[in-house]
Amino acid sequence: MSTFQGPKGTYDLIPPDSEVFLAVREALAAPLRRAGYGYVETPAFEHTPLFARGVGESTDIVTKEMYTLTTKGGTELALRPEGTAAVLRAALQRNLHRGGLPVKLWYSGSYYRYERPQAGRYRHFSQVGAEALGAEDPYLDAELILLAVEAYRSLGLRDVRLLLNTLGDANCRPAYRAALQEFLRGLDLEAIDPDGDTRRRIEINPLRVLDDKRPAMRALLEGVPLMRDHLCQECKAYHEQVRDLLGAAGVGFEDAPALVRGLDYYTRTTFEFVHDGLGAQSAVGGGGRYDGLSELLGGPSLPSVGWALGVDRTVLALQAEGVTPQPPSPVEVFAVPVGEQARRVLFGVLTELRRAGVAADFAYGGKGLKNAMKSANRSGARLAVVAGERDLADGVAQLKDLDSGEQHPVALDALITTIKEKLQ
Ligand code: HAM
Repeated sequence: MSTFQGPKGTYDLIPPDSEVFLAVREALAAPLRRAGYGYVETPAFEHTPLFARGVGESTDIVTKEMYTLTTKGGTELALRPEGTAAVLRAALQRNLHRGGLPVKLWYSGSYYRYERPQAGRYRHFSQVGAEALGAEDPYLDAELILLAVEAYRSLGLRDVRLLLNTLGDANCRPAYRAALQEFLRGLDLEAIDPDGDTRRRIEINPLRVLDDKRPAMRALLEGVPLMRDHLCQECKAYHEQVRDLLGAAGVGFEDAPALVRGLDYYTRTTFEFVHDGLGAQSAVGGGGRYDGLSELLGGPSLPSVGWALGVDRTVLALQAEGVTPQPPSPVEVFAVPVGEQARRVLFGVLTELRRAGVAADFAYGGKGLKNAMKSANRSGARLAVVAGERDLADGVAQLKDLDSGEQHPVALDALITTIKEKLQ
């Protein structure tokens, strides 16, 4: 063992679990690629003010959870805690919005939040995300939700619930915020807010108070004003359309009128996908519309909608349901040479197989036959190509089916074609 350990709140992905992780990441992204979303990749760090302004100065993510650093040149940078602000920054910087709208983008990568680590909550985690920029169209909100549902379905997850809400817009939110604040200021918080955190939150970011999970606070929130009762006509009609479209597509959802998100940029449609097998960290994905974010970042009006699905938590959800996908072994053929001459010949075969698109591996380290066959079996390959001096003298190699154990000689010059036929 090394004297070093990975930092707290992180974990290493190692085979074979890493294969499941990759399969999940691919499954979450596949529906997006089929729906015209283009891949975008942004740096792991950005200027700190991008997130401070984009995600919200008073959010936990910005005030408590960002990994920030000052470069030798004095620039303030932050490891990205989320993808939306960065993707929008990149789209604006590269003028993607000057082409046809909406600009539909997807991404996948590592995100960093200095949170208290627990099951399903890490300081380094992975998301697959999607952003559709520049269209105010309930069909687009519905498309994105349907694509996430499709991704979870394709993985075989059955117990994901969709929670749906609307947070109104610049028209109706201010009046609601004021009504909410008035209600919250009237609460007797003496006993449950000794350090004044909640009272501060009521003044700065009252909507976040709705997310307070403490039972005593939940009891106090009984009868709290809800956004849905303060929506303007446009927001109400928009939300009805999103609900109708989901219903028409046969996608079940639960109205969650007190659902607020941990990021401040949301307007109108907001949603979360939750899985009940995960304990406290039940959100496997979340997102919504963010019609004002572009202007906040200095861009033009660009009403947009998006989501991010947590890869780590989706893997945990699959485990909770006992449907962890068994991805096929990436290695199809394993080469087992016995002796130096066979190593040379089979290394050539390995190279040719790989060029022909066959996934193949080799018994490196000059192992004896027994150990090399153990490696072959462990690799999950379907076929082993075994050759020693006598085989080579006969111009053949032994092709062994690792499932049935059957083995027969194949002429070296017919090896690649025979292997390809067998694998079909
Ligand atoms: P978020 O809800 O903060 O949204 O994160 C999305 C998902 O990432 C969560 O539902 C969860 O599955 C996963 N996640 C978040 N934090 C952690 C953590 N510490 N450990 C493990 N998994 C985690 C966003 O990030 C928005 N950018 C989504 C969005 C895109 N909204 C519009 N466009």
